[in-house]
Amino acid sequence: MSNLVITGGSRLCGIIEVPGAKNAVLPVLAATLLNKGTSILENCPELDDVTTMLEILGALGCGIRREGSRIEVDASRLTASSIPEALARKMRSSIIILGALLARCGEVHVSYPGGCEIGLRPIDMHLKALSQMGAQIDGINDGILRCRAEKLTGCEILLDYPSVGATENIMLAASMAEGETIIRNAAKEPEIDDLQAFLRKLGVQVSGAGTGVIRIQGTREIKAEPVHRIIPDRIVAGTYLAAAAATGGSLVVTGVIYDHIGSVLYCLKRCGCRIKNYSGNVIALESNGNLTALDLVRTSPYPGFPTDMQPQMVALLSKCRGTSVVVETVFENRFRYTEQLMKLGADISVQGRTAIIRGVDKLKAAQLEARDLRGGAALVIGALAAEGTSSISGVNYIDRGYERMEKVLSSIGADIKRVET
Ligand code: UD1
Repeated sequence: MSNLVITGGSRLCGIIEVPGAKNAVLPVLAATLLNKGTSILENCPELDDVTTMLEILGALGCGIRREGSRIEVDASRLTASSIPEALARKMRSSIIILGALLARCGEVHVSYPGGCEIGLRPIDMHLKALSQMGAQIDGINDGILRCRAEKLTGCEILLDYPSVGATENIMLAASMAEGETIIRNAAKEPEIDDLQAFLRKLGVQVSGAGTGVIRIQGTREIKAEPVHRIIPDRIVAGTYLAAAAATGGSLVVTGVIYDHIGSVLYCLKRCGCRIKNYSGNVIALESNGNLTALDLVRTSPYPGFPTDMQPQMVALLSKCRGTSVVVETVFENRFRYTEQLMKLGADISVQGRTAIIRGVDKLKAAQLEARDLRGGAALVIGALAAEGTSSISGVNYIDRGYERMEKVLSSIGADIKRVET
């Protein structure tokens, strides 16, 4: 166990390079299960969730080689179709394996997924879609999901909500199903586009990612040697930009895709930050630290404001002049971290899915506890902007989404260290 100890007040200035996206690499790793050849992935972030996913693939019989940000997965021979319980419970995205493993093996056993405590996070849409494709699903009551499908058949699926995970799961199952699958009201997130790009390298005919209607023509035999570079992590980029904004800093982030964080940059500009975009993948932010509140920020599916940036934005707004309103529409329980921000002196009231943030002149150091990934990132931003030395426990949550956060932040002038407890 470790704590982050942060002495606030330093302006964050410098250059950082954004790593590959956690939420893109996990479904792509699941997709490697479809391939009877060896898949090579580049720009993979070195995160605990990626390690857990590789352990799951290893337990299923895949050969794995990992060297820094490069991962090779040889799924030519699978030896199991159940995901070990301890691994599945560690990571919600383990459910992403469902579609791919069912398609490849005709059978899957997996315990109900774990993950961040940010809401109910049901998987009903995943299961409904897979049963529409011919899967028999039972045993949810004892916490173990048992799925079987002698054959998956392509069909038309209308999602009630553009769920990212359900869209990915269906794309993976459909890649080996008989005939065509059409997903309507599909998620449009950039990570879906990245999955489509990888599936195409496997030889799957898939189109429409990013448009809301995705078509997949299934193929029984997939054997390819794809080399794929994971897209940059838009949430990591947004988090460090928000941290620089909150400390009155000046930050350049490289290796990012400007359009992927358009909604976040829009809000940062409206707060008063100056933002320049060079050649689509370098973004420079300047903040004088004297920022103004935003009347309304509503999280929504891409290209709306991402729910994964909501806590970091609230941390920034805590120090912005005036009153801001932030409405969370994606997950029902995503304001728990605000209690911790209030220990720093933030003035926030939460009613249901709405947070009202009255900007304060100063935040003051406190002992804080991270209880989920992005909420933890918000506490780091709050502590960086506060006077005095704060300590944040629950760093394991933060580590799930940020590679060596204390090193990155130290390199741009933060006074932060990891202390083993
Ligand atoms: C993914 C991301 C997560 C991000 C979220 C929204 C990964 C590993 N995680 O999560 O970081 O916050 O997208 O951009 O990529 N829902 C149902 N039934 C279902 C599935 C979802 O009701 O079967 C609801 C959820 O409770 C939630 C909403 O749909 O209210 C969005 O969830 P979804 O898009 O599925 O998020 P995840 O794929 O879990």
